[in-house]
Amino acid sequence: MLRTVTCGELNREFKGKTETLTGWVDTRRDHGNLIFVDLRDRWGVTQVVFNPQTNASMHKIAETLRSEFVILVRGTVQERPAGTVNAKIPTGEIELQAESLEILNTCQPLPFELGEKNVGEELRLQYRFLDLRRRDMVESLTLRHRVMKLVHEYLDKQRFIEVETPYLTKSTPEGARDFLVPSRLNHGTFYALPQSPQLFKQILMVSGYDRYYQFARCFRDEDLRKDRQPEHTQIDLEMSFITEEDIMGVVEGMVVHVFKHTQNIAIKLPLRRMSYREAMEKYGSDKPDLRYAMEMKDLSSVFEASGFKVFDEVLAQKGSIRGLCFTPPAGTEFSRKDFDDLTQWIKTYGAKGLAWFKVTGPDTVESPIQKFFDGARIRKVTETMEAKAGDIIFLVADQFRIACVALGALRCFLAEKYGMIPEGKFELLWVVDFPLFEWNEEEKRCDACHHPFTSPKPEDIPLLDTEPLKARARAYDIICNGTEMGGGSIRIHDRNVQTKMFELLQLTPEQAEAQFGFLLKALAFGAPPHGGLAIGLDRFITLLLARDSIREVIAFPKTQKGTCLMTDAPSPATERQLKELGLDAKRMWIGQGNK
Ligand code: AMO
Ligand code: AMP
Repeated sequence: MLRTVTCGELNREFKGKTETLTGWVDTRRDHGNLIFVDLRDRWGVTQVVFNPQTNASMHKIAETLRSEFVILVRGTVQERPAGTVNAKIPTGEIELQAESLEILNTCQPLPFELGEKNVGEELRLQYRFLDLRRRDMVESLTLRHRVMKLVHEYLDKQRFIEVETPYLTKSTPEGARDFLVPSRLNHGTFYALPQSPQLFKQILMVSGYDRYYQFARCFRDEDLRKDRQPEHTQIDLEMSFITEEDIMGVVEGMVVHVFKHTQNIAIKLPLRRMSYREAMEKYGSDKPDLRYAMEMKDLSSVFEASGFKVFDEVLAQKGSIRGLCFTPPAGTEFSRKDFDDLTQWIKTYGAKGLAWFKVTGPDTVESPIQKFFDGARIRKVTETMEAKAGDIIFLVADQFRIACVALGALRCFLAEKYGMIPEGKFELLWVVDFPLFEWNEEEKRCDACHHPFTSPKPEDIPLLDTEPLKARARAYDIICNGTEMGGGSIRIHDRNVQTKMFELLQLTPEQAEAQFGFLLKALAFGAPPHGGLAIGLDRFITLLLARDSIREVIAFPKTQKGTCLMTDAPSPATERQLKELGLDAKRMWIGQGNK
């Protein structure tokens, strides 16, 4: 190597030694005759001093150094003079007294300062090669590597083997659109990039590889959010001859292993299990954030026959009245306008309205609707909500699901806005007993809640014929701090049940055969009982580092519009490329400028 040590390595033990460093000029400061350079590489920063008395021609070259020049410098390690020690960095006690300097490359003026915190993300993504030099990015990519290594180690010990599955394949439904790749050798046909390796890992189980895993890239053409990318990486695994508890046990062990060796945090096992129903009732979400309390309560019976029309009507339609008790931080006042704004905001979650009680005593509240309720009823409300004077009780009356989801969103919003989320805390749990289906109002049919290969609970199989929406799935999600980190299920291994499932999803036998014929065939050739799960690696790393977006833990992510600002992908194809693929450039787009 051109260097003898990295920029993060030197300390007092090297005093008097001659060493060679390479790296990027982080900063240059001129102090009279002396030039100080902070030299940086991914390992750290070392202070280098250029003194004209040591080497005058070298000092002349040092005067030309600019930010991000790449240099090689040789010199002697010396202790920094008293008072100039930097206790914040490992190399803070020493500096390199330079004896020779070579400029390996220059650098254009920078589009942004690497040390600057508030650089627009667009600019960062455009110049990702510079952005990746920043400490934050080095930290996240290094942690990502470390986690992958720990997972490989752990699963290898558990006798899993990694098997790769194809990227050019057939559609695997996971609830998103497919990315399609036209085939040159078979004009008019398309591969789909996998939304997950789901079907291949099930086939591997049929083939007897009873403990499979893979770091799998998954491609999903869906609307992007801060925790979604069009391609993401999963820690994907599958096992045969197991129950839910076996899979959950392996995954818990893996997650704990990672927390222990990266954060030095001991997570207590087994993780808490919560039913989907309980999660919805108490937190209005199937991924509850348990870092703070604020549980929702049911107030339907408390408000029975109250005479307040809005509530009575909802109850008459078998709806639900749910309450959320919020203790505002000292000194926070809620004005009428604040409540009006919250009311408007909560309507985006489908709620028709929001009522509020400012609690002033056990049986007294301030509220625009207090006149409808007597003291005894108010007391029941404050008692049920365990509210004390100064608290605010928010109420939503609506269909059960809407009331839960809307108040659940309010719960998260208030916690975030009023700083109720403790830092550095990790609250993990399993959510279990999901419904097998959800109703798709637009298409007027059932959709699989997880995916169409998820097994119903055996005791709920008869419901498939009568009330499929009541059937529960053998599915489980692992949640951390209100984020769905991973999800999985026990699969259907009986061909007849799988066929029935496709029917309920309104696939005709021909469609089922065309899309999933290979799976149905495999199930008829000795498929063992099996199940698995996938952890979203990008989300996992984002959580470990408490970053805002998964783009912060991916080397080359895409924007919300699915573009890569550095390479400018996606970009038009040449006519020749299209012709080879048998595509007609003129007929490719339905309209002009639909990009
Ligand atoms: P699922 O669709 O729940 O399950 O995905 C598993 C986990 O992958 C992560 N994830 C994503 N991360 C970033 N961007 C996305 N667009 C994205 N979509 C999903 C989440 C999620 O929990 N085949 C099944 C797993 C199984 O049943 O074994 C599957 O893919 O963290
Ligand atoms: P309205 O009769 O629509 O003016 O509503 C009277 C009060 O009830 C207002 O404070 C509304 O915000 C509240 N409200 C209306 N609809 C609901 C609802 N679905 N849930 C809770 N409060 C509601």
